[in-house]
Amino acid sequence: MKLGLKNQCSEKRRPLKAVATAVLIALSIGAGNDPLLEKSRHWFDPIPEEAPRIPGNPVTTEKITLGRMLFFEPRLSSSWWISCNSCHNLGLGGVDHVETAIGHGWRKGPRNSPTVFNAVFNAAQFWDGRAKSLDEQAKGPVQAAIEMNNTPARVVRTLRSIPEYVELFRKAFPGEADPVTFDNLARAIEAFETTLITPGSRFDLYMSGDESALTEEEKRGLGLFIGKDCVKCHKGVNLGGSSYHRFGAEKTPGPEIMPREDKGRIAVTGNRADEYAFKAPTLRNIELTAPYFHSGKVRDLKDAIRLMGTHQLGIKLKDREVDDLAAFLKTLTGRIPAIEVPQLPMHAADTPRPDISDR
Ligand code: HEC
Ligand code: HEC
Repeated sequence: MKLGLKNQCSEKRRPLKAVATAVLIALSIGAGNDPLLEKSRHWFDPIPEEAPRIPGNPVTTEKITLGRMLFFEPRLSSSWWISCNSCHNLGLGGVDHVETAIGHGWRKGPRNSPTVFNAVFNAAQFWDGRAKSLDEQAKGPVQAAIEMNNTPARVVRTLRSIPEYVELFRKAFPGEADPVTFDNLARAIEAFETTLITPGSRFDLYMSGDESALTEEEKRGLGLFIGKDCVKCHKGVNLGGSSYHRFGAEKTPGPEIMPREDKGRIAVTGNRADEYAFKAPTLRNIELTAPYFHSGKVRDLKDAIRLMGTHQLGIKLKDREVDDLAAFLKTLTGRIPAIEVPQLPMHAADTPRPDISDR
């Protein structure tokens, strides 16, 4: 390479520059070798910036638009009063912040509402994993008597009575002779839910190699999270959402935290080993989604962490460790996508009227 005048002039400073370069190289090798970062990359994956693809349900702008409307649509409930957003409030972390969900007729359901943010990355849906996909999941609450209390036939009648919806289904499902169906409603909601992802958390910045994204305390917490084996159950892109474990793997919680009526995954598999087993939930955005556990009995994150120590790991975590773990978990808060509240088309004369009686 031909050296220019400028380079010749800096000749004298070469040794210094060489040292600086050597230091830089050493630092960057050091970064690659940071054992904590390496371990983290072994256990976890960052949330991608782009919405994931769904096999068998191509996500289009038209489907997302329709799905967003349906997510905010209270006329999917028999009372015209409850939408998905009632329990999965997108302005409040995708949850309702009450102990267990409140649905039709003010009835209290048995379980806490999990967040819909990043649900697309869960291996299966619900605390017991009884729905394998988001579209299968979406059909549940519409029909559940303690949630939206409707029937597929009545929902379809409602949507068909509103010309704007018929047009939107036509656009979202082009080429279908009869696009306004309960299955397509679920597919559109699923498409919208793929956009409910929260990339860009400080933890993900750290995973991308920015070691300054976490404080020393947060890194200690991350080290404990891996070292104490929280990762046995909370791993992957969602730090959870991928496996089921007995609540009380080491020590069964009291009924004030785990009411005995809800026996968890055994209802799905029939396996004795799944009694009181629940999905290890995602810990993404955990600081926004209290109260915790399927029972919603614990409101304080540090209490939840302590309970995980005693009941899932059989250890008593020190206060300092709990503080560090909580600090780490708060770095999992990502960028909530901007969500436009949709304007919904008016109902027509033949739209089934609100019905607050029980079916
Ligand atoms: C009355 C409150 C309520 C309404 C309305 C409601 N949900 Fe839920 N949702 C819940 C509860 C409670 C659970 C957990 C139930 C269980 O595990 O058995 C849940 C679970 C979910 C999950 C699974 C998340 C996970 O991590 O397992 C998704 C996704 C979801 N709901 C989306 C929706 C959509 C879409 C709608 C509208 C069609 C909706 N919900 C309506 C309360 C509600
Ligand atoms: C043996 C598996 C296992 C281990 C180990 C484990 N967890 Fe959990 N975790 C679960 C399960 C299962 C749940 C859900 C329990 C329920 O609600 O029934 C849960 C729930 C949680 C929750 C509440 C989340 C919510 O949205 O309700 C937090 C926070 C949590 N774990 C953090 C931790 C931390 C921190 C550690 C390590 C100290 C840890 N977990 C170790 C399986 C585990």
